[in-house]
Amino acid sequence: MLVQQQQQQHTASIVGAGPAGFALAAGLQSQGTSVLVYSHPTHVRHANQVRRNGLLRASGLMEGSTRVRVTTDMAEAVAFSRIMFLTVPSTGQETVLEELRKFSLRQHAIVAVPGNLFSLIAADLHAGCILETNLSPYSCRMEGDGELRVLGKKELVFIAALQPAEGEEEEDDVVVVRRALCGEVARILSPTRLKWCSSVVEVSLANVNGVFHPLMMLMNAGRIESTGGDFMLYADGLTPSVANAMAAVDRVRIQIGEALGLRLDGAVAVSNECYGQGFSNFVDLGRHSPPHNRLRAPPTLENRNLTEDVPDLLVSWCSLAEKLGIDASPIRAVITLAQMATGVDYLATGRNLRRLGLEHATRAELIARFGGCDSSADRQKRAV
Ligand SMILES: NC(=O)c1ccc[n+]([C@@H]2O[C@H](COP(=O)([O-])OP(=O)(O)OC[C@H]3O[C@@H](n4cnc5c(N)ncnc54)[C@H](OP(=O)(O)O)[C@@H]3O)[C@@H](O)[C@H]2O)c1
Repeated sequence: MLVQQQQQQHTASIVGAGPAGFALAAGLQSQGTSVLVYSHPTHVRHANQVRRNGLLRASGLMEGSTRVRVTTDMAEAVAFSRIMFLTVPSTGQETVLEELRKFSLRQHAIVAVPGNLFSLIAADLHAGCILETNLSPYSCRMEGDGELRVLGKKELVFIAALQPAEGEEEEDDVVVVRRALCGEVARILSPTRLKWCSSVVEVSLANVNGVFHPLMMLMNAGRIESTGGDFMLYADGLTPSVANAMAAVDRVRIQIGEALGLRLDGAVAVSNECYGQGFSNFVDLGRHSPPHNRLRAPPTLENRNLTEDVPDLLVSWCSLAEKLGIDASPIRAVITLAQMATGVDYLATGRNLRRLGLEHATRAELIARFGGCDSSADRQKRAV
C-alpha cells in the first residue's frame, strides 16, 4: 500500500550532485517528478554552486533554470522517496553505501546510474530492489559557474535487477515489492526507454565507455599532457589506430557475452541504440556524433575515463573473461598500460572477482547466474 501511494506521488531522490545527477533531476522535474538531490558532505562543490546560484541553470539540450532542492543529509534523502538514483561515479559508490547501510531500505529501489556491478558489492543492503543501468541518461558537464551543459540525451538505457544467487529463496512479498518498485522506476524514467537485460553482468558489458574511454586516454596521453587537453577527445583523438585497439577490446567484451549465452552488439551499435544514431564505425562516431565530437579532452590523465572505467569496468570484464576461459589479453594490456602510466594497481583496487564476491564461483555458476535468457519476455520476467 505504501508503495502504491509513493507511485502516485512520483518522487525520486538523486544521490550524487554532479552533472549526471543534476541533469537527471532537471529532466525528472520537467516530467512532473518531485526530486531531492543528495550531495555527500565531503563532495559539495557543485551542490554549493547550485545553492549559491539559487537555481540550476542549464544550457545545450536543456535550456533554462529550475529550482532543485539539495541536501547533505542521507536520512532526508531516504525519507523523501522510495526511488533512489545513485549518480556518483562507481569509485564513489562505496562511500555512499556506508551511508545507505544505516537505513532499512526494504521498501526502496536503489538504481545505480551507471551500475558497473554496484549490486554485487551492495548485496548486503537488502534493499527492496537494486537496479543498474549501463549509462547515464544524459551526457553533460558542469561549467565553472555551476551551469549545467547538456550535450546529449539517450533514448534508451540498458537495465537489470540483481537476481538472488543460486539457492537463495525469496518470499512472495519481496518479489511483489520488487515488481512494484521496478514498475515505478520505469514510469519515472519514461520517456527514456528501458532495455531489460538478463543480468547485471549484461548491463555492465553494455557500458561501452569501457571500450571507448581508457584507450582514447592512453593512446592520446602525450597530447593530453602536452596541451592540457586542448583538443577534442573523440573528434581528434579517436583515429583509425585507436579504433583498431578499441575493436580488439570490444571483441573480448562480445566473447564474454557469448560465453554467458548473450548475443551482444558491438560498442558502436550499442551507442547507436542508446542515442538513436546510425554510425558505422568508431571513427565515424567520434567525428560526427554531436554528444561526443564536442567533448574536450581532460587536462590530465587523472580523470574518470581512466580512474573509473579501468578499475570498475575493465578489471571486472578481464576477471570474468579469464574465469570463463577467454583470452582477455587485449583488455589486460589496457589495464597494464594504465597501471604503468599512473602507478595505480588497478587489478588490486578494481572490481576483481574477490571484490565482486565471485572469487569462488565456478565457470558453470557464473553462467547459471548471469547467463542469457531465451526471449525478451523471459528477460523482463527475470528482471522484475
Ligand atoms: N556526465 C556524463 O556525461 C556522463 C555520461 C555517461 C556516464 N556518466 C557516469 O555517471 C556518473 C556520474 O557522472 P558525473 O559526471 O555526474 O560525475 P562526477 O561529477 O565526477 O561525480 C558526481 C558526484 O559524485 C561526487 N563524488 C565523487 N566521488 C565521490 C565519493 N567518493 N563519495 C561521494 N561522492 C562522490 C562528486 O563530487 P566531486 O565533484 O567532489 O568529485 C559529484 O558531486 C559517473 O559514473 C559517470 O561515469 C556520466
